Amino acid sequence: MSTKRLDLPEDFIRKITGAFGEAGEKWLAGLEGQIRHYSEKWNLVIEGPVPNLSYNYVTKAKDIKGTPVILKLGVANGEFKNEVRAVKAYKGNSFVKLLVEDAENGAMLLERLLPGHNLSTLEDEEQVTREYINVWRKIRTPIPAGVNFPSVKDWASGLDRYKAMFPEGGEPIPFEAVDTAASFFKELAGLGEEQLLHGDLHHENILYAEGRGWVAIDPKGVIGHPYFDIISFLVNYVNEKPNPKELLKLRIDLICNEVSMDRKLLLKAAVSLSTLYACWGIEDKTDWKDTYQCMIWFKELLEETACELDGNKVYK
Ligand SMILES: Nc1ncnc2c1ncn2[C@@H]1O[C@H](COP(=O)(O)OP(=O)(O)O)[C@@H](O)[C@H]1O
Ligand SMILES: [Mg+2]
Repeated sequence: MSTKRLDLPEDFIRKITGAFGEAGEKWLAGLEGQIRHYSEKWNLVIEGPVPNLSYNYVTKAKDIKGTPVILKLGVANGEFKNEVRAVKAYKGNSFVKLLVEDAENGAMLLERLLPGHNLSTLEDEEQVTREYINVWRKIRTPIPAGVNFPSVKDWASGLDRYKAMFPEGGEPIPFEAVDTAASFFKELAGLGEEQLLHGDLHHENILYAEGRGWVAIDPKGVIGHPYFDIISFLVNYVNEKPNPKELLKLRIDLICNEVSMDRKLLLKAAVSLSTLYACWGIEDKTDWKDTYQCMIWFKELLEETACELDGNKVYK
C-alpha cells in the first residue's frame, strides 16, 4: 500500500525526506507494510498515530491482553539502535519501559504512558522548570559498561560538516560562532565528568503517567557532561513567547537555584549545543533561525554572568 493510504502529514513526509534523503523515501514507501508486519509479529491492534509525529512513526496500539502500548517505527539506522540501547540502559527509572524490540529493523514496542500529556501542557513556567529539573536529576546514570554510545564530542563533528558545506563562503552562521562552539565543547569535555545523557530531554519527551509522575521517553543516548542534557529544554517554546530572553534567563535562574550549578559552564554548554542544533538544522533543511537566536541570547547572558562575577571579585 502507498503512504497516501496512511494519510501521513505533509510536514512529517518533509521532515523524513529532509533528514534521511533516499533512505527516508524508501522507508516511507514501506511503512504500511512495516506496520502490518509488527502488528502480526507482536499481536497488536493498531489504533492510529500520535498527533505530533516528527522523525519516527509512533502509533498507539493494544497488545493481545488489551493493554495500551506504543509501537515506534523509524529508519533502521545507528540512531534508532542507539535509542533502544539507551532506553534499556535507563532501566525504567523515571523512564519509559521497553517491552520488545527489533532495533535492527527499526521497531520497538513501549509501555504506553497514561494519560501521557507532556510537560508543555503545564502553564506555569516555574512549575514546568521544577518538574523538568526533577526528571533531569532522577535520570542521571553513569556510563554503562560494555555498551558503545556516541559522545557529545562525536556530535560536535557536525560543526566541521557544517563548515565543509560552505567552502566558497556565504555561510548563514558565521564560522567564528562555530569556532566558539567548538572551543566550549572542548572545555566541557576536558572536565571529565561524562555520564549517559538522554540527549533530547525537552517538554514533548517528558510525559505524565498516573502513579509514576513525569517520565522521560525518546532518548538519543549520548555520553557527555550532564549540563548538555538541559539545553534542548532551554531552547524549547521560547521564541513564540513575548519576552524570550527573559524566559531563558528565568529558566536558567530557576535551574541554577534548584540544583547548584556553575552558571557560566551551563551557559557555555548552551552556546555550544545550540550552535550545533542550528548547524544540524541547516544540514537537515529544517528551521534553524530560532535556535540560533537562542544561542545569541545565551552568549549575551554568558557575557553578563562573566561581568557580574568579575564585579564581585572587585568588591570582595
Ligand atoms: N510510551 C509512550 N506513551 C505515551 N505516548 C507516547 C509514548 N511514546 C511516545 N508517545 C507520544 O508520541 C510522541 C512522539 O514520540 P517520540 O518517541 O518522542 O518520537 P520522536 O522520536 O519522533 O520524537 C511523543 O511526544 C508522545 O506524545
Ligand atoms: Mg520525541
